[in-house]
Amino acid sequence: HTFRDIMSKIEEDLDITKEEITYLLKTESKNEIEAIFQTADQMRKEIVGDVVEIRGAIEFSNHCKKNCNYCGIRRGCTVPKRYRMEEEEIMEVIHQLHSWGIKTVILQSGEDDYYTTEILVKLIRRIKRETKMMITLSIGERSFTDYETLREAGANNFLLKIETTNKDIFKFIHPDDDFDERLKCSKGLRQLGYVNGSGNMIGLPGQRPEDIAEDILFFKDMAIHMIGIGPFIPAKGTPFELYPQGSVEMTLRAVAITRLVCKNVFLPATTALASIDPDGQTKALQAGANTIMLISTPAKYRSNYQIYSNKNMIDLQSAFRAVKESGRKLPKYLKISPEEVQ
Ligand code: 5AD
Ligand code: SF4
Repeated sequence: HTFRDIMSKIEEDLDITKEEITYLLKTESKNEIEAIFQTADQMRKEIVGDVVEIRGAIEFSNHCKKNCNYCGIRRGCTVPKRYRMEEEEIMEVIHQLHSWGIKTVILQSGEDDYYTTEILVKLIRRIKRETKMMITLSIGERSFTDYETLREAGANNFLLKIETTNKDIFKFIHPDDDFDERLKCSKGLRQLGYVNGSGNMIGLPGQRPEDIAEDILFFKDMAIHMIGIGPFIPAKGTPFELYPQGSVEMTLRAVAITRLVCKNVFLPATTALASIDPDGQTKALQAGANTIMLISTPAKYRSNYQIYSNKNMIDLQSAFRAVKESGRKLPKYLKISPEEVQ
């Protein structure tokens, strides 16, 4: 029987094929679907444990020189206000996260050349000096030398999503990007010793389960450590605003299968998922995910970082709720308790 063969290959840690992953993505058997989720949850428990890792994300600039067709802050979009946070302002947020005991900060922005390597190096050094926090950069494509300088300054992780491994879809959704260049960046980051993050969107125009299977194999082959999997959400004012949204079910299934195939990885319960389903994070945590990113962008800027419409606000309160509802544990390093944020 196909399904049992595939699942025992997974349990024995044998290589799994694109066709087999596709089968898991496509099956409509209730029992099989349930077994996929249960096995993923079990594997998450055995490999990374019950603690949900909580990280803070600061969206420090919504300026972007690129025009990705799906994105609400693409250069062609009129956003209420373009903003850039200065070092002082970023540090204020960092210190708050640090006071809560949070250990990792994600510095995220559009592709904004205002932040030269020099400016970023200064910021990274200061964060390290004042807090020793782990730093994840999510600032898009830069040169190998830039990545190297940022790594030497102290950046630990880098999140650069491939979005899709289907080259035709990649080209269709990215008017200014080249698949091979994106791949080259990702390989460069790995070579430089970054903890390498990637991810994809589920429900992109023309995307089939076969493509998602290919994405999952890509994460495995590239030894990606953090994999952000979110549904595509149409963003107002973009060329893709009328395309249908990706499905919650398919996204959860992709999360679960990624856990089964990639095993020891960080899988965030993504903001995108929480934005289209109020219980999205809880469901993801029960389907193999083990990380939550708090959106820690100052309130006055948040509404200007709408990469898709109706983006949800993941704060401490909603993170605590998802951890509780999924029956999981808060990290011991947290210095703030659910009672304090009521
Ligand atoms: N739907 C879902 N995710 C999106 N992102 C950007 N726009 C959208 C959208 N419309 C995600 C992409 C990108 C990050 C900036 O946000 O995965 O990597
Ligand atoms: Fe810019 Fe990233 Fe949005 Fe593309 S997805 S337009 S690079 S912020």
